[in-house]
Amino acid sequence: MAAARRVRSRAHAPYSGFPVGAALRTRSGQMFAGCNVENASLGAGICAERSAVLQAVAHGMRPGDLEAVAVYTGDQRLTPPCGMCLQVLVEFGREVEVVLAAPGKRRCTRLADLYPEPFTEFPRPARRRT
Ligand code: THU
Repeated sequence: MAAARRVRSRAHAPYSGFPVGAALRTRSGQMFAGCNVENASLGAGICAERSAVLQAVAHGMRPGDLEAVAVYTGDQRLTPPCGMCLQVLVEFGREVEVVLAAPGKRRCTRLADLYPEPFTEFPRPARRRT
């Protein structure tokens, strides 16, 4: 939670005014943090959770390694990760503890409760007949 709160201060969120910080902990105890990075081309922005996953994967996190995620937002509402972030997080762990936090508030839940039926199959294209 502290890491998520710290990294939130570096978010680039001038368009939404909604800075978010996320921190991941792996089973081996490594910590990775990320913040949301918005863009003048609005669809080019990325959420804090996926930003943290990019950091973690670049440093060696593999599927199954993710143990816990903390998300820190600024207002009094505790907001769970968006659907795209939930799908990306679940790629790296099924038994993942999620802590949603804001000043003076905290909710502990699990990835499987927030996102009970993830998409997991990668459909192989049918082999083309020659
Ligand atoms: N945002 C996150 O960083 N995480 C989420 O799970 C939902 C939304 C960001 C994206 C955008 O920069 C801002 O919050 C407003 O949607």
